[in-house]
Amino acid sequence: MEPFDIRPLGSSFGAEITGIDVRTMDDPAAAALHAAIDAHRVVVIRGQSLSPEAQKRFSRRLGPLVTLPYVKPLDGHPEVIAVLKEADEVKVSTFGSWWHADFSYLEEPPVYSILHALELPPKGGDTLFADLCTAYDALSSGMRRMLDPLQVMHSGFVYGTRTAVDGERGRARGVVISRGNADADVERAHPLVRFHAPTGRKALFASPTYTTRLADMTAEESRPLLEFLYGHMARPEYTLRQRWQPGDLLVWDNRAVNHLAVNDYDGYRRLLHRTTAGRERPAAAPT
Ligand code: SIN
Repeated sequence: MEPFDIRPLGSSFGAEITGIDVRTMDDPAAAALHAAIDAHRVVVIRGQSLSPEAQKRFSRRLGPLVTLPYVKPLDGHPEVIAVLKEADEVKVSTFGSWWHADFSYLEEPPVYSILHALELPPKGGDTLFADLCTAYDALSSGMRRMLDPLQVMHSGFVYGTRTAVDGERGRARGVVISRGNADADVERAHPLVRFHAPTGRKALFASPTYTTRLADMTAEESRPLLEFLYGHMARPEYTLRQRWQPGDLLVWDNRAVNHLAVNDYDGYRRLLHRTTAGRERPAAAPT
């Protein structure tokens, strides 16, 4: 029997977990939770109350903590960032407001992202997820055969340049983003179809936020295929909506899902603490 209660959230992915306090769980419970995250790929653990230090302790159970390029962390906690939009910030763009897998342009992108809800708007401010394994499986066999060997280029440099679709007057000031990072300002090739070892499934690995083009092709040549894939991945039947509750601790697996923050709560403050754990070089499925 699991050391917590678990129920599925979406038809193909996502689960809600109750009945566990991650601050006091023992090693077998932590291992069961890790296995549930790998299997369901998006897991919300309800009713947690974590200081930045406690969130880091929990996150380390999933892998070594990752510090993020471009984003200013909390004072005294280089591995924690505040995802914040203040009530007086209207018509500004928020952090992560278009589809992406976190920092996919790094040589070894982060595996798990962890968000803890501290202050929520009374309505709106949800986070959407797209199941990239099920989206891959739904493609025709001819399309899958064509995509399997392809590589795509990712870059951090393009963040916010093509995708500021949700704001007219710059970005929310709560997340301070710098420019100029030698490790992130390059284009890096990764397989378009990535192997998700915990489930043995294949997942599409591209996003309109960070993918610049197919390897060995121009951006213009790449656009029709990539636009098709972005539309396909975001079809409602592959998505899941996280409606935040106070105390939620949400973990997702960037190897197998894309996500976006819905920026529809102007006039209200929203604050979450975010950590990132584990790194993995994306690999194609073994043949
Ligand atoms: C992100 O980490 O991309 C932001 C998610 C959110 O604010 O809901």
